[in-house]
Parts: sequence; C-alpha cells; structure tokens
Amino acid sequence: MMRPDRGIDVSDLSPLEQTSLLTQYARALDSQWAQPILGDPLAADIVSKIDYDFGGLGVPTSVVCQAALRAKMLDERVRAFTSENPDAVVVDLGAGLDSGPFRVRPPPAVDWYSVDLPGVIALRKRLLPISRRAHSVTASVADQSWPETIPSHRPAMVIADGLFAFLSEPVITGVFRRLTAHFRTGELAFNDYGHIGWFTRVAVKLAPQKMFASVGAQWGYPGFEDAHVPETWNPQLKLVEEASLAHAPEIDLFPNWLRLATKVSGMFETSARKARILRYRF
Ligand SMILES: C[S@@+](CC[C@H](N)C(=O)[O-])C[C@H]1O[C@@H](n2cnc3c(N)ncnc32)[C@H](O)[C@@H]1O
Repeated sequence: MMRPDRGIDVSDLSPLEQTSLLTQYARALDSQWAQPILGDPLAADIVSKIDYDFGGLGVPTSVVCQAALRAKMLDERVRAFTSENPDAVVVDLGAGLDSGPFRVRPPPAVDWYSVDLPGVIALRKRLLPISRRAHSVTASVADQSWPETIPSHRPAMVIADGLFAFLSEPVITGVFRRLTAHFRTGELAFNDYGHIGWFTRVAVKLAPQKMFASVGAQWGYPGFEDAHVPETWNPQLKLVEEASLAHAPEIDLFPNWLRLATKVSGMFETSARKARILRYRF
C-alpha cells in the first residue's frame, strides 16, 4: 500500500526482513553527509519513499560509517572482478534494498542477481529502478534451490553484506558448499565480525537503541576468528583476502573520536577482525 503523504507501508515485513531497512537507512544518512564515505544518493531516495520510523532506530554514527565503508569495499571488489570478467554474474545474497548495481555500474554484459526473502524482494521491485541487467531472486538461501535460476557457466562474483550473522552455522556452510556446486568459477566476498563473544551479544541485546535490540534478537551465528575456517567447510574455497575496515583509507572521513578509536582497534589483530571483508576464490 502507498499512502501519497506517507510512502510505502512496510509493516508486513518480518523482523528479519526489516533489518534491510536499517542498512539502507545507514547508507542514506551517509549520502547526506558533506563528505560521504559511500555517497549513494539512491539510498536516500529509496528511504524517502518508505513509511517507517527510521529515526526511531537510533542508528549511531559508528554504524553509518561502518555500513557505508563495507559497502564501498565490497563495491570495489565487485568492480575489480567484473572488469576482469566482463561476462560475469554478480550475486548479492541477502541483498535487501541495496542499490549496488547502480553504484558499481559493471560492464554492460554483466547480470546482477539480488537474492532475498519474499517481503524484501517485493519491496525491491517497487523501489529500485528497472534495469535490464538487474534481476531479483525470491528465495531463502537456506533453500538448496536458490541458485537454480542463475546461470552457472559464467564467472560468478558472490557477495553478502550483513547476511551471515543472521543465519545458523549449518545454513552458512550449506550456502558455501552450494556455491561451488552450482558456479564453475568465481569469488565469494562478504563482511564479517570475527568471533562475537557472549558478552558482546548480551550488550547488543541490552543497548538502548532499537536497532541493536532488533539485530540482537535475530543474531544467529557467533562467527569465527580465523579466516581460514570457511576453507574447512568447503575445500574448494581459497582465502585470497582478509581486509580490516580499520585499515581502509576512508577512516580519515570518520568523525575525530571514531577515527581515533578505529585506528587504535586496527593496531590489534583481534579488534581489527571485528569489522572485515573476507574474500575467497573458487
Ligand atoms: C542487514 S540486512 C542487509 C541487507 C543488504 N545486504 C544491505 O546491505 O542493505 C540482511 C538481509 O538478509 C536477508 N535475509 C535474512 N535471512 C535470509 C535468508 N535465509 N535468505 C535470504 N535473505 C535473507 C534479510 O531479508 C535482509 O534483507
């Protein structure tokens, strides 16, 4: 339903699907900063069309910076892969409302598949611009059949931003195995938080901001420290990159206090792993 004065009603989204609003809102806020990190004006345009109390999420500046930076880091990896493989498919797992295909603008023969749950895909279809090369896939990645409508013979760049923490370990390992069973060759890149201990999980649940309560309630996987762990789930995956957000040049755009805290966190291996991009080749 679209109320002319208020935008699209999203009250039917499940709590898990609603997490897509949070990351989209974070990128929208970034786009309105004087010096954005990602600078995605489409994010703000999409948010402006949704009837939802975004302000009530209480998204802190640190989350805006992180969401914008990890999207930028993933975009860069997709750009590199698609410029080397101009016939590639890009597959965004748990794509939410992300406007990745319109930011990255890959070579014209690249097809971009956004996979998500039914409520989110329905919303994507209403909110994202139409593009001949951007496709939506309504599926749960827990379902073995999710890749079936995606060409398997082209090089595949598979990304996931903000998805895996919400899945259980058996579902994640299933996704990692299914990838190489379906796609002949490619890369998998995703954001990761290292190992999330019980203290952090309790702190997230008890935090006063609504966004932390809703994310905490959906959190399904405590993660891993050693980036080689996914290679044990699927030996066809080879780790090719572990990049901490704390080491990215864009942290110079963070507000002073956050820049300092991020630089300090980047000096220690364990804290540097708390916000990283992992990339595997297969
Ligand atoms: C935090 S949001 C991130 C969305 C998007 N990647 C972004 O950066 O804005 C997590 C997304 O994962 C999706 N999701 C959660 N579980 C899923 C599953 N089993 N299969 C497909 N998508 C799922 C949610 O619907 C939501 O859109």
